Amino acid sequence: TFVAIVPAGGAGTRLWPLSRRSHPKFLIDMTGAGRTLIQATADRLAGLADDLIVVTGAAHAAAVADQLDLDERSLVVEPAPRGTMPAIGLVAAIVEQRYGGDAIVGSFAADHLISDTNAFDEAVRRAIAAAERDLVVTIGITPTSPDTGFGYIHQGAATEVDGVSSVSEFMEKPDLETASRYVESGEYLWNAGMFIAKTRVLLDALARFEPDLASDLRAIARSWDGPDRDSALGLWDGLKDSVIDRVIAEPLAAEGGVATVPASMGWSDIGGYLALSEHLDDPSGGISAGGTAQSIVLSDAPDSVVYVHDRPIVIHGIPGAVVVDTGDVILLTTKEASSGLGGVVSALPGDI
Ligand code: GDD
Ligand code: MG
Repeated sequence: TFVAIVPAGGAGTRLWPLSRRSHPKFLIDMTGAGRTLIQATADRLAGLADDLIVVTGAAHAAAVADQLDLDERSLVVEPAPRGTMPAIGLVAAIVEQRYGGDAIVGSFAADHLISDTNAFDEAVRRAIAAAERDLVVTIGITPTSPDTGFGYIHQGAATEVDGVSSVSEFMEKPDLETASRYVESGEYLWNAGMFIAKTRVLLDALARFEPDLASDLRAIARSWDGPDRDSALGLWDGLKDSVIDRVIAEPLAAEGGVATVPASMGWSDIGGYLALSEHLDDPSGGISAGGTAQSIVLSDAPDSVVYVHDRPIVIHGIPGAVVVDTGDVILLTTKEASSGLGGVVSALPGDI
């Protein structure tokens, strides 16, 4: 049995105003392809997984259920965000209850773009084969810059499973100096934020590294499908914030328990408008950010990213312009300047 877990939480500021607290990027059709990011994530997994469970907060549960047409069993609503470790760990524990310790879970972020679906498919199949051998398996992407927003995987020797390498070190979000050293060495991969493992392997590792968290999550899971779910969820309040990369991937890799599938699949976690523009067929064609897109006129504005709402947008003489009209807000910047958008948006009052 292979069950896909899709954690969906948090709203970054780097794609504001498309992505906001009230409608984070996973609920948005970023590329104009007709599917939101979480829908595209579920589409990719449909042929691979026997079951799919989304874990999200109460604020977005209804929208997620609606977009994916999920029933109650496929939606885990966390009482408060506690980071990816409790979120993914709880679903793994629920899957362990429902399908047993040999069931394999794979966690896939709700808000990434992947352009080569076949390569994704192939990578996940290999990861499942390696997970059968009691490894926690990641997907590794060849780094293109010393980005400090990623986990780094030190790729070791080949394993017995075709296309799967051992991992000698996992380092979550290193500082710039370390990241630069990693990239220059040519021996490191970016962690694509996917983890594939047997429920027992994942939870037993958690039980060694964070025993209280593991026993709390397993206790909640035992009551999940019965009448005592709400009282068991009382334990959630006392959980500390934590991320799976630091709690499991880092220490387990040091013990030789992590493997990676190097894959080239047109992957992006869309860290900003520059990254987004690389995934758009015709960025200056004017993608609808809601409402009805009307014609746009571009003049002397090469290489622009334009999201229209319900009125035309005309750009003249601004190469690399980024213009986003969401009806209630207009963002006007350039691709070059947009990397600093997070700081500007964080300083805005309230949830504009
Ligand atoms: N339900 C729930 N609750 N989901 C969450 C929570 C939470 O508290 N926090 C994060 N998520 C979801 C996000 O929506 C996303 O789909 C996924 O879990 C990963 O979380 P991010 O917060 O986006 O992680 P990151 O980007 O900083 O780092 C991770 O992804 C990188 C690749 O994009 C790490 O795995 C890195 O190692 C990796 O390189
Ligand atoms: Mg992310």
